[in-house]
Amino acid sequence: NWTMDDFIDLQVDHIRKEVGDRKVLLGLSGGVDSSVVGTLLHKAIGDQLTCIFVDHGLLRKNEADEVMNGLAGKLGLNIIKVDAQERFLSKLAGVSDPEKKRKIIGNEFIQVFNDEAQKLDGIDFLAQGTLYTDVIESGTDTAQTIKSHHNVGGLPEDMHFELIEPLRSLFKDEARELGEKLGMPYELVWRQPFPGPGLGIRVIGEITDEKLTIVRDSDLILREEIAKAGLDKDIWQYFTVLPGIKSVGVMGDGRTYDYTVGIRAVTSIDGMTADFARIPWDVLQKISVRIVNEVEHVNRIVYDCTSKPPSTIEWE
Ligand code: XMP
Repeated sequence: NWTMDDFIDLQVDHIRKEVGDRKVLLGLSGGVDSSVVGTLLHKAIGDQLTCIFVDHGLLRKNEADEVMNGLAGKLGLNIIKVDAQERFLSKLAGVSDPEKKRKIIGNEFIQVFNDEAQKLDGIDFLAQGTLYTDVIESGTDTAQTIKSHHNVGGLPEDMHFELIEPLRSLFKDEARELGEKLGMPYELVWRQPFPGPGLGIRVIGEITDEKLTIVRDSDLILREEIAKAGLDKDIWQYFTVLPGIKSVGVMGDGRTYDYTVGIRAVTSIDGMTADFARIPWDVLQKISVRIVNEVEHVNRIVYDCTSKPPSTIEWE
């Protein structure tokens, strides 16, 4: 019978044979998938793995520090952190189409890699945290593309890396099991899935600094309250989105005209289908009150009660 231990042995063996004494580059996104790939590769080839962690300015609050402390600090992975906020945000200025935003972020990501890789000596392989669900949803295996997930395919022709995608046959829960078996810290293994384009697809339409701040700060409050309520392991993904709607409210003595924040929370096995999470009303109330009180320019909170299908998990 197939076990995760067999999988690890096979992959480690396979990776060592394929890579030999050559070098591998991995892009860390802050999410579970790339962290697990990094840990697996680190086990297989140690310092022949160099990771690049791009801060594209679309990360969650405190995310960069958590990734650096957990993976470089605790596990000893060799990680280069690139502060590329300006680069991404200037390319994204004025762009509101979701697929265009994804493409820009994806392409920029690859270019940041290329730039960094050129500073390193002789990199032959590029590793990616592609899961089985990414393969299916990107249409590599089927005719229809639902959304272009930027961590699959689309490599420019002038990039001379070979791809290593050791999680290509795994579902998310299996990737987590793999991470646990590899000794990853609990908080990294149980991070909720986070899309490569990050908060860039949670600010609906054009991305601005002000909107990013609203999403980032409201998302932190949501995460804190979900954890306090002990719901963090039951809910697959929970995050806030900024649809860009402004509406009328009243605060103190005055009329306000401010943003609406949407809360999205779903249960799921693999992200392919999902059900909206039945968060208790009192928990929702705490979240709502805190966001409106603590995050500037927000006067209304709505809860997304659609499942997938017909909706997708992300709003873009
Ligand atoms: P959807 O919105 O398609 O999301 O129901 C399914 C899962 O995929 C994540 N997602 C992405 N992940 N790049 C990624 O790496 C992307 O462009 C992307 N879009 C969605 C989403 O967070 C959910 O877990």
